[in-house]
Amino acid sequence: MSTIETDRLTIRHPVEVDRDRFVAMFTDEAFTVFSDGVHDAVSANARFDGMLLLVDAVPYAKQPVIERATGAIVGYTGVGTAVVDGLDRLEWGWRFVPEARGRGYATEATTALLASADRIADGELLCLIDPRNAASRRVADKVGFRWWKHIDWLGDPNQPTDVLTRPIGSGGPALLAPT
Ligand SMILES: CC(C)(COP(=O)(O)OP(=O)(O)OC[C@H]1O[C@@H](n2cnc3c(N)ncnc32)[C@H](O)[C@@H]1OP(=O)(O)O)[C@@H](O)C(=O)NCCC(=O)NCCS
Repeated sequence: MSTIETDRLTIRHPVEVDRDRFVAMFTDEAFTVFSDGVHDAVSANARFDGMLLLVDAVPYAKQPVIERATGAIVGYTGVGTAVVDGLDRLEWGWRFVPEARGRGYATEATTALLASADRIADGELLCLIDPRNAASRRVADKVGFRWWKHIDWLGDPNQPTDVLTRPIGSGGPALLAPT
């Protein structure tokens, strides 16, 4: 299993012992702001199962970010999947507990995991961001995503979602979810 160390953080693949921490985060309203909504225990467990599955196929899939000073999992970074324009694509996401926000952790962790993705894959990634989410957009800009277009992701044309892209490795066609 790959482990990445940055100045303050460890980023490594999720394992079964992380389940309780992730279920607690996914069922917390503050953690799940700007998402499809807060999970109940069943959907939170299903979401964690999905993380375990995807990271087996895509080494830069969503994974825990551990604050080394405390040993605590403070969030995640990495790709999930999203169907955009009929294609099931790899889409990068980041999310941190409120007390760990505003310290540069999202940028630090994502820069490191993206560097690893750049070494092992070629193609194009997406990132979907609510235009009101200025902090997330700032992270996206800092780690090399560029605005592509608006889509009606939420099913409400009055609430568009920003789609950004970033080439991975030497670039190329859309990176797709594993079948
Ligand atoms: C978005 C999120 C992951 C950012 O994590 P973070 O560790 O605080 O991010 P960083 O500190 O690396 O960078 C945040 C940047 O946004 C800026 N920022 C923060 N709040 C901002 C705001 N309200 N308006 C504009 N910029 C803002 C910061 O100043 C920083 O930019 P800088 O380095 O140029 O100063 C975190 O806020 C979070 O978990 N939010 C809730 C979940 C979420 O929205 N996830 C993304 C869904 S698309």
